[in-house]
Amino acid sequence: MTASTIDTMEFRKALGSFVTGVTVVATTQEDGTPRGFTANSFSSVSLTPPLVSVCIGKVASSYPVFSDTSHFSVSVLAEHQKNVSGVFASKSPDKFAQVDWHKGVTGSPIMDGAAAWFDCETYQVIEAGDHIILLGKVVNFSTSSASPLGYCRGGYLTFSLSQDALAAASSARVGAILESHGGIVMLEGPDKVFHLPTGTKLDPASAPDSLRGVLSKLKIDAQLDFLFAVFEDAEAKAGAVHVYYRGQVIGDLPQDSAVRVVPLDAIPWAQVQDEAVSAMLRRYVKERREDAFGVYVGDANTGSVQPLAKSA
Ligand SMILES: Cc1cc2nc3c(=O)[nH]c(=O)nc-3n(C[C@H](O)[C@H](O)[C@H](O)COP(=O)(O)O)c2cc1C
Repeated sequence: MTASTIDTMEFRKALGSFVTGVTVVATTQEDGTPRGFTANSFSSVSLTPPLVSVCIGKVASSYPVFSDTSHFSVSVLAEHQKNVSGVFASKSPDKFAQVDWHKGVTGSPIMDGAAAWFDCETYQVIEAGDHIILLGKVVNFSTSSASPLGYCRGGYLTFSLSQDALAAASSARVGAILESHGGIVMLEGPDKVFHLPTGTKLDPASAPDSLRGVLSKLKIDAQLDFLFAVFEDAEAKAGAVHVYYRGQVIGDLPQDSAVRVVPLDAIPWAQVQDEAVSAMLRRYVKERREDAFGVYVGDANTGSVQPLAKSA
């Protein structure tokens, strides 16, 4: 297939296989009123200087504003902000009246509750076919622990706990591998056996036998990021499923004699008596060392791997 024979619909479909986040790109117009649109073409560009890019279609009604602006912001939407994406992808004349936002140092509007945001001065505007590439030099940014919203093949994706996973976990052993200050949280029993925090289901925190209930009783404030392992219990009754999430402790751990933070290279394997849990933890340590959970930022020479589940 050559450029001249490219089927636009098929091309769009192929591009849609690339999983992205969802952002709102916003600025203030000369009269001080805010302007913004939903974009998934956001990308990191350079670390030094700190540059990001976003592409704007020339047919967008806000194109003349963004092609000429001296500053703009990019808010990376959190998974509960599908409605914000919808508002800014629309032609609504009062988009900013429908969401909560505040101004950044450049004066650009930033979405409240975003997973991250970047406040930028315009660095360069590059002609690119039916779009322009807006390069921004980041002058301020912020990140939060909120799970980001994803987008692929025309639909939204969420990366945290899905309802299906919760349903599947309703009659299982549900545990967590939680990172805190470079180690993982384990509970030491009176018999000196080390366990991971577990419950018989995930929610609610008010149920003492749920994972969230167990964590709440231990006063561990944790964020469960991703499903890490699902396996059947070979020894116990058939169909007993173990579901383990990985996540991180928010803030400090309580001074509880049973709660230990075990460095990844010093897990007391002899005291982890459950073989399946031990095998799962060995995989976790290996993947953590290899940064297999990481997202690559940069290029082969200057890039670095940013761990997704970095401890707080
Ligand atoms: C998930 C999603 C991603 C989008 N990404 C872009 C993008 O990267 N660039 C763009 O110009 N339009 C993008 N759009 C379309 C614009 O948000 C849409 O055309 C919007 O109406 C433009 O606002 P405006 O008419 O006020 O300029 C996207 C829409 C959605 C739903």
